[in-house]
This record gives sequence, C-alpha cells and structure tokens, in this order.
Amino acid sequence: MDVYKLASEIIKNSKNLVAFTGAGISKESGIPTFRGEDGLWSKYDPIILDIDYFKKNPKDSWEAIRDIFYKYMNNVKPNDAHYFLADLEKRGILKGIITQNIDNLHQEAGSKNVIEFHGTTKKVECMGCKRKFPIDIVDFENLPPFCPVCGNVLKPDFVFFKEPIPEEAFKKSIELIENCDTLLIIGTTGEIMPAGQLPYLAKGKIIEINPNKSVYTDKIVDVYIPEKAGIAAKKLKKFVF
Ligand code: APR
Repeated sequence: MDVYKLASEIIKNSKNLVAFTGAGISKESGIPTFRGEDGLWSKYDPIILDIDYFKKNPKDSWEAIRDIFYKYMNNVKPNDAHYFLADLEKRGILKGIITQNIDNLHQEAGSKNVIEFHGTTKKVECMGCKRKFPIDIVDFENLPPFCPVCGNVLKPDFVFFKEPIPEEAFKKSIELIENCDTLLIIGTTGEIMPAGQLPYLAKGKIIEINPNKSVYTDKIVDVYIPEKAGIAAKKLKKFVF
C-alpha cells in the first residue's frame, strides 16, 4: 500500500498522536539544519554553543549566535508541515509536539501544546539571577547583553552543549511520548542525546517523514515517508482531512 495511505489511516485512527520534530521540519521555511549538506556545523564551529566557551567568551559566542539564529528569524514563516500539525491538534487528534527546534514556528502556526526540549530563541536568561526577559531586550549592535537587574551576562534561553535539559520539559516529554498511540517523527537525525532517546519510549505505531533515513528508520519506524516535510504534509492532509 502507498505510504501516504498507510500513514493517514494510522493518523485518522489515532486518539493520542504526538509529534517529535527536528531542524528538518523548518528547512522549507528557510532555516538551515545543523548537520548534513549545507548544515550550520559545516560553516560554524559548534564550540560557540558550548556553555564553558560561552562563559569565557560571551561576546564571541553572541556574535556568531546573532548571525546564525537571529539575522533571518524575523523573516521566516511556518510551512505546510507546521500548519498540518497545528490542524491535527485543533481537530483533537494530536495531543502535543515535542520539538528540538528553538525557532517558535510551531507556535506561530497555531500549535498550543508545544514542548520546547531545547528552549527558545525568543527569550534570554540571566547567568546570575536566572531572571528571564524577552529577546527584544537585546541590542544586537552591542553584545553581549547584560541583565538590567543584576548586571550579569544574559544568555539565549536555549540549551547549549553540556547543559542539562530543562527539567519540566524533560518530564512532560516522557509523559507525552509514553502515553501516545502514534508517534510522528519529522526532520531529525535522532543523533543528539538525550532528545534522541525519546522515540524509543513510544509504544504505538511510528511514522517518520524525512528525505534521508535517520537512526530510527530501520529500527523502530512502521511507516517511512522519504520526502520533505512540507511536501509530505500537503499530501497527507488530503488523505487525513
Ligand atoms: N523535511 C524533513 N526533514 C528534512 C528536510 C526536510 N525538508 N531537510 C532535511 N531534513 C532532515 C535531514 O535528513 C536530517 O535527518 O532533517 C534532519 C536534520 O538533522 P539535524 O541538523 O541533525 O537536526 P536535529 O536532528 O533537529 O538536531 C538535533 O542538534 O545541535 C543540536 O540542539 C540542536 O536541536 C538540535 C539537535
């Protein structure tokens, strides 16, 4: 049977669908992925997202982070895949999204229950007093930014290498995924831990959309759609709604 028909049958019959997304779902919105051809790590040194490096070189890190994550951020829009998930939630099929992305595009598409496993680009957190502020507080011409309350350096509110996952996000993700009857994995290599271990906790059917095979494809995936997220979502939508 056609993979789209198979996947849509599973989705339609699902009462507790959960999505697990990675950089690939935002690729068609114009946001580069981390790994693979044209990935960010082929152009930048990942050290700039290492927490120890950031503590010693906040200006350096912030300037690269500005170029990588903030230059294009105001010009990107959700694509068909983000809207498809938002639609599924509105219709009561999808119960939540666990995303590794920090781009806010699921929320911009209208999704409500979004767990940001790696945090967000939309806020900053003080390295001293831990207060959080909206990103608008940052003057990108004058980096690094400092806390208006205690004067310590502000850090983007996303998870750097060697930092733990926010406890609440971790707990909620495990709960969501352990209770789902279908897991939809979109656009992730599955290589980065601990996020990458989450799909192994799913007990129901697993559908994956990714033009390239991930670590999950041959191990735990029931229906694999080898296609770009936006294109696949558009086709699936026709079968599901
Ligand atoms: N549609 C769907 N998937 C796509 C598309 C597309 N249009 N284009 C690329 N992909 C897939 C790639 O085949 C790859 O499997 O998206 C995946 C992107 O992989 P990564 O760049 O490794 O992104 P991700 O898995 O989300 O990275 C996890 O790594 O550096 C950290 O914190 C960062 O959250 C990130 C984590």
